[in-house]
Amino acid sequence: MCGIVAYIGKEQAFPIILKGLKRLEYRGYDSAGIALINQDQLNVFKKAGKVSNLEEFMLHQDHNGTSGIGHTRWATHGAPTDTNAHPHVSMDGSIALIHNGIIENYNALKQELIRQGYLFKSETDTEVLVHLVDFISKKENVWFGEALRLALLNVVGAYAIVAISKNFPGQMVAARKSSPLVVGIGENGDFYLASDATPIVEYTKRVVYLEDEEIAVIKLGEELKIYNISDQEKTPYIQQLELELEALEKGGYDHFMLKEIHEQPRSIHDCFRGRLNSSEGWVSLGGLKEYEQKMIQAKRLVIVACGTSWHAGLVGEYLIEELARINVEVEYASEFRYRNPIISEEDVVIAISQSGETADTLAALELAKSKGATILGICNVVGSSISRITDAGSYTHAGPEIGVASTKAFTAQVTILSLLALSLAHKKGTISESEFRILIAELEAIPEKVQRVLENNADIEKIALEFKDVTNALYLGRGSLFPVALEGALKLKEISYIHAEGYPAAEMKHGPIALIDENMPIFVIATQGNSYEKVVSNIQEVKARKGKIIAIVTEGDEHLKEIADYHIEIPKSHEFFVPILATIPFQLISYHIAVMRGCNVDQPRNLAKSVTVE
Ligand code: M6R
Repeated sequence: MCGIVAYIGKEQAFPIILKGLKRLEYRGYDSAGIALINQDQLNVFKKAGKVSNLEEFMLHQDHNGTSGIGHTRWATHGAPTDTNAHPHVSMDGSIALIHNGIIENYNALKQELIRQGYLFKSETDTEVLVHLVDFISKKENVWFGEALRLALLNVVGAYAIVAISKNFPGQMVAARKSSPLVVGIGENGDFYLASDATPIVEYTKRVVYLEDEEIAVIKLGEELKIYNISDQEKTPYIQQLELELEALEKGGYDHFMLKEIHEQPRSIHDCFRGRLNSSEGWVSLGGLKEYEQKMIQAKRLVIVACGTSWHAGLVGEYLIEELARINVEVEYASEFRYRNPIISEEDVVIAISQSGETADTLAALELAKSKGATILGICNVVGSSISRITDAGSYTHAGPEIGVASTKAFTAQVTILSLLALSLAHKKGTISESEFRILIAELEAIPEKVQRVLENNADIEKIALEFKDVTNALYLGRGSLFPVALEGALKLKEISYIHAEGYPAAEMKHGPIALIDENMPIFVIATQGNSYEKVVSNIQEVKARKGKIIAIVTEGDEHLKEIADYHIEIPKSHEFFVPILATIPFQLISYHIAVMRGCNVDQPRNLAKSVTVE
């Protein structure tokens, strides 16, 4: 949450920072601000609302300067106003600072600073940082970089920080703990800093991901220096970015979400690359291979995740238990971390996270590690915090997901979990060689089937038109399709603000059926498989109460086409892989309804892409 970006070098900083803020806007869009150093002046510009508000405001401002910092905010402490926007500035106007994270002991620090005569303008936790840096630099007579290091010794919480001072125009200092921060090293001695690599990739591919409690000291004309919080120098580990610029553009689509939905045949295929070969009959998740025996022998696998990733975990539970006969539990990371879970060395804890930065998921992993469990990760963002703290893991390779509503990351997560379930089952011998071969061939055919579902887009849009004005919706599924119902409901709520709930189809009789009348749409996954007859009965129960059925059916199912008010066909596939196919129509329905309702699809209200605060 919150995006930070900074530049120091020979170019004009403003256009670089503005472009970077636009790339990071998915991390929060409550306000935006920039501070620029122009010779001996520190100029700060802040506006509530989206980056475009700031951009418009800047049209009439002097935005010269070759060093600067920028921030796009997801509000935690204090309303989204101009004053609460970052950067925050010291009372004497010399130091400006941006921050992503939460300073937990900000109130105690604030009271002490007030006693020292500091006046606070904003309601944010961040403002204490800039005053504290200023206070320490004056008290200890040290430059602002050293003052920041000393200040952080007194800070409890999570942070990614970048600070500049007009008294040291060629210098910039940055630090991180539990919030991500990347430093890009340019060709011409320029430096770029950002919450993720997306604002940097256009300028350089040489990056350093800061580790927790590391401080980066940048002085123009010198090499990047990294120190730990105890002031010991560390050697920067320079990595080469694999990200391509085109992946960050809309590529002709109206929204990132639509582009990402349409990318799924490719992203699922990329997820297979080098990991599955149906003609030779093997599946291999390189990153997790070393730990497969441990998983097979584990007392249980515990999957921790949030939101959509948690839904993927539920599908994974079904697949791993069914195929590999290993006990799996799926936990909300936020609940797991606070309930003293019984975890030992015999457990394997797997975090699923698109961003790899979700605060609760990270904390759940840290807790599991402290109890001796093996910790593994399934992440999309390369180099993210979760991918770095885990013992091993597998990247989903879905490519950057910019739309706040997760789409291609979900199907890629389910794909990895399918590969994992198959690999474990094969090694453990819980499925026969012939079953294994059939299943990997079925899985390999999924990208092409996803493409066929996407070809129904126009029909799905017509269905969306019928339901765009509803206030409530129910989603029903059974077995591994129940999490798909949950995911369908989440997609609808988060981008179109329609209240929606997902239920196991059989649970309907235990309460939700009371909601059904002629105005209630019920989206049911009724594909052919084990529970087909039972789901058809559930549909009849809804029909008897005049609910409107929108059924996802297997291609050619004439029976259900007659019963349902609306239907969407998906290609026939093995039951294990239907969750991937059945998700696509729900993504498209939500997308079209949100567009028809005039909602901001890519940046829904109150949300942020990476939830880096608890
Ligand atoms: O980056 P993560 O996968 O850890 O994020 C978890 C959730 O915050 C995320 O899936 C969220 O629910 C999305 N907005 C869903 O579309």
